[in-house]
Amino acid sequence: MKNILITGGAGFIGSSLIGSLIENPDINITCLDNFDNFYDPRIKKNNIKTYLKKNNFILIKGDICNLRPVKRKFSKRYDAIIHLAAKVGVIPSIKDPVGYTEVNIGGTQNLLEFAKEIRCKKFIFASSSSIYGVNSNFPWREYDRNILPISPYAATKISGELLGHVYSHLYNFQFVALRFFTAYGPRQRPDLAIHKFTKLILEGKPVTLYGDGKTKRDYTYIDDIISGISSALKYDNSKFEIINIGNNQPVELNEIIFLLEKALRKKAAIRGLPEQPGDVPLTFADIRKAKKLLGYEPNTNLSTGLQKFVSWFRQQNEENKQ
Ligand SMILES: NC(=O)c1ccc[n+]([C@@H]2O[C@H](COP(=O)([O-])OP(=O)(O)OC[C@H]3O[C@@H](n4cnc5c(N)ncnc54)[C@H](O)[C@@H]3O)[C@@H](O)[C@H]2O)c1
Repeated sequence: MKNILITGGAGFIGSSLIGSLIENPDINITCLDNFDNFYDPRIKKNNIKTYLKKNNFILIKGDICNLRPVKRKFSKRYDAIIHLAAKVGVIPSIKDPVGYTEVNIGGTQNLLEFAKEIRCKKFIFASSSSIYGVNSNFPWREYDRNILPISPYAATKISGELLGHVYSHLYNFQFVALRFFTAYGPRQRPDLAIHKFTKLILEGKPVTLYGDGKTKRDYTYIDDIISGISSALKYDNSKFEIINIGNNQPVELNEIIFLLEKALRKKAAIRGLPEQPGDVPLTFADIRKAKKLLGYEPNTNLSTGLQKFVSWFRQQNEENKQ
């Protein structure tokens, strides 16, 4: 029997990960989440509501910045900690850099301390493509030392990786940082472009486009992100790794709008605004390391992934009306 602690388990990636693990009776899952109000906490409650009925699932409402009150509810032993809880979003971090540091660096350190205390053997950390920042050596490779973050959020994620290296080295546990590249699909956060645009197009409201729409992102379908995390959970050939989990196919924002219009059968009204500071022009993952170490192979193309997202979105809308 494996005991796994998943922080941020009520969020987009966390709840999708739990969905993929929960039917395995050999895995016990503890989900720690504070249901912060970055977006509507009811969405998070809805994400995990079916898991609450399962015998191998425990929900603990608590904050990674203060583990003391929740520790007594924890299991005595965790075989792995998958740390996904964070203050998310690149642009919002510019308005609240101190808050992002407290949660994403302070909270991560609390969990690393906890891993040390309970002699946990494996720690998986949700890092981000944003840490590469304005590095122009594309595609981005993990061993490139030219780390040039341009947002407080990105700086907190690279700091989490560095702390992970320290703890893994001193206390002899495995630390794997997965650098996710723009995850999308069912349950995607409402602040992210694909979700936001879909809602606005269907409501007939204008979509705000920052810059000329030529910025590119390496959009990665949620099932591929989850397969990367699941493989990292099984991987035990080395003590410290940083691995890109992307799609290796950057796509322009204008193309995303075009594909969404097609999937929704509705034209988007566009409102142009200048580029936002903190936003990078291009993200592009080299995924050879993920392939080699984890057997990772993204296999949902963008138009299929967007169709799946749109079907989920429409279904959610129908359920919300009832
Ligand atoms: N979605 C992406 O494209 C993407 C890309 C790169 C990295 N990431 C990282 O992956 C992780 C999951 O992202 P997501 O998109 O699922 O975001 P999300 O906001 O849906 O999930 C994060 C969860 O963490 C919880 N949380 C926040 N602060 C907390 C705290 N102090 N204590 C306990 N729980 C807390 C939130 O309530 C939320 O449920 C994050 O660490 C994020 O930085 C995501």
